[in-house]
Amino acid sequence: MGDRVVEIKKGLEDVFVLETKISSIDGIKGILEYRGFNIHDLLHLSYDAVSYLLIHGKIPDEKEISAYSHQLKKDRGIPEEMIRVLHTCNFNIEAMDALRTEVSYMAHCDPDMNDNSYDGNIRKGTRLISKFPTIVAAFHRIRNNQEIVAPDPHLSHGANFLYMLRGTRPGELEAELIEADFILSAEHELNTSTFSTRVTASTLSDLHSAIISGLSTLKGPLHGGARMAVMEMLDEISVPEHAEEHVLNLISNKQRVMGFGHRVYKTYDPRAKISKELAKKIAEEKHEQKWYEIAQNIENTVNRELVEKRGKPIYPNVDFYAAVIYRYLEITPQLATSVFAIGRVSGWIAHILEQYADNRLIRPRAKFVR
Ligand SMILES: CC(C)(COP(=O)(O)OP(=O)(O)OC[C@H]1O[C@@H](n2cnc3c(N)ncnc32)[C@H](O)[C@@H]1OP(=O)(O)O)[C@@H](O)C(=O)NCCC(=O)NCCS
Repeated sequence: MGDRVVEIKKGLEDVFVLETKISSIDGIKGILEYRGFNIHDLLHLSYDAVSYLLIHGKIPDEKEISAYSHQLKKDRGIPEEMIRVLHTCNFNIEAMDALRTEVSYMAHCDPDMNDNSYDGNIRKGTRLISKFPTIVAAFHRIRNNQEIVAPDPHLSHGANFLYMLRGTRPGELEAELIEADFILSAEHELNTSTFSTRVTASTLSDLHSAIISGLSTLKGPLHGGARMAVMEMLDEISVPEHAEEHVLNLISNKQRVMGFGHRVYKTYDPRAKISKELAKKIAEEKHEQKWYEIAQNIENTVNRELVEKRGKPIYPNVDFYAAVIYRYLEITPQLATSVFAIGRVSGWIAHILEQYADNRLIRPRAKFVR
């Protein structure tokens, strides 16, 4: 057995393990599509509608979106016992850890706990999508000694999140930006966290367990945790004039510039292109160019040093300009990865359902060596 010649694909790079109808990436041309729709063309929709598209496979008509949004809004509140759990958390943890704990707790409070049918999973999934923003905002306010803000059913998914987080209703552009961030974060083919949800689902474990796998995987700094790392880098640099030196130091110490590079994209990440425009827009509206300028200086230096001089395809990825936008929206670094998860949970649910619908246990091999 040990003598068998096998090809080892470390990191499963470029390995195709399943077929999906949920999304596709062209890493050379820099194109991302959800269910066949280019993400550029989905930004005029609400997050609710995009989440429906991912999970149900079609853009909802008026009746469908009205019923779906109504249900999402109805499910936004979290019960007293979940608030109590948040009070017991260590307040130095990332919001992501509190979210993971809450999903675990939710699993055994959910009225459909033992119903793993398609309909049961749709109901559980809708509750998860609805409650993620409420959990993150509540944890943030509890640890800052502030009153929790109840959800406002008149606000969109994104605007309501900012309202619950900050206690005041966001401006029009702020609401547009957070909604766009959730849409751009919602789905990305077989990224590492989505893969981990499918691995868990492939054992026929339940939806909440698969989502916990996704959360745990998204948290790492090589994946969704990069968003927090970028925010910390922006803070550390703090003035645009220091950005170039900071990047040069990272490169000469063979360290990674967080928010750059991608396993699949060998060109500019289409999501980053959109976020960059949005970051510029909010910087102008807020008359506060600092964070945008720091980001520009980082990007210019990476481009000069790694792309032009060394020929490496290291461009901003989704996390880079998302982190800049978070700065303008008063989302702190400790919240960043959990805000990513608020968007991504719809994609995870879509993939878990797709896995259940045509399941085969995911179980690769490892070659034993002495
Ligand atoms: C995302 C990431 C893990 C993909 O990595 P990967 O596909 O395994 O790519 P590799 O680690 O093989 O990197 C290829 C080359 O590019 C370099 N590189 C990749 N990302 C880099 C970055 N962010 N900064 C500097 N150099 C980078 C590597 O050092 C390597 O150089 P080498 O060939 O001279 O050794 C990687 O780009 C990274 O660590 N980025 C920073 C974290 C991040 O932003 N994650 C969010 C991803 S959406």
